[in-house]
Amino acid sequence: MSKTDENVQDAFAGESQANRKYLFFAEKADKEGHKQIARLFRAAADAETAHARNHLNVIQGIKSTKENLQAAVSGENHEFTEMYPGFIKQAETDGAKEAIGSFDLANQVEEIHHSMFSDFLGKLEQGEVIEEKPIYVCQYCGNTVEGEAPDKCPVCGAPKKMFKSID
Ligand SMILES: [Fe+2]
Ligand SMILES: [Fe+2]
Repeated sequence: MSKTDENVQDAFAGESQANRKYLFFAEKADKEGHKQIARLFRAAADAETAHARNHLNVIQGIKSTKENLQAAVSGENHEFTEMYPGFIKQAETDGAKEAIGSFDLANQVEEIHHSMFSDFLGKLEQGEVIEEKPIYVCQYCGNTVEGEAPDKCPVCGAPKKMFKSID
C-alpha cells in the first residue's frame, strides 16, 4: 500500500467518524431546540458521507456484492474473535466498566452479524433465493434480527419498541 493509499484510508476513517458524530450532534441540537444548528450538522454529515464514498472508491473499497459480503464476514469475524476480546481484556485490567459494557454489547452483535453475512454469502454463492423479510435493529445494542422483533432483546434486554425496522 502506498503512502497515499494509507492517507486515503485514514481520510475515509475520519470522514466516516465525522458523519456519525455530526448525526449524534444533530440529535442533541434537536433535543435542545436548536433546529437550524441540527440541520447544519445533518448537512455536514451528509457531505462527509459523500467524501467517505469518494475516498473509498479511490482505494477500490466497494466491489461486487459477493466480495463485499466476504469483506463483511472477515471484518465482523476479526471484531468478535480478536478486536473486542482484546479490548475487553484490557478494559478489565483497567477497571473500565463502561467500556467493558459497550465493548461487550458490540462484541455479541458482531458475532450475530458474522453469522447473518455468512448465511447470505453462502446462499448467494449457491445461487439460492434470498427471501425478502423484515430486518429489525435494537436501537440500544444493535442486535440485528431477521423476521420478527422479539418481545425482549436477548442481548441487552430492551423492550420490543426499541427495535427499528430497516428498509
Ligand atoms: Fe457488526
Ligand atoms: Fe438490544
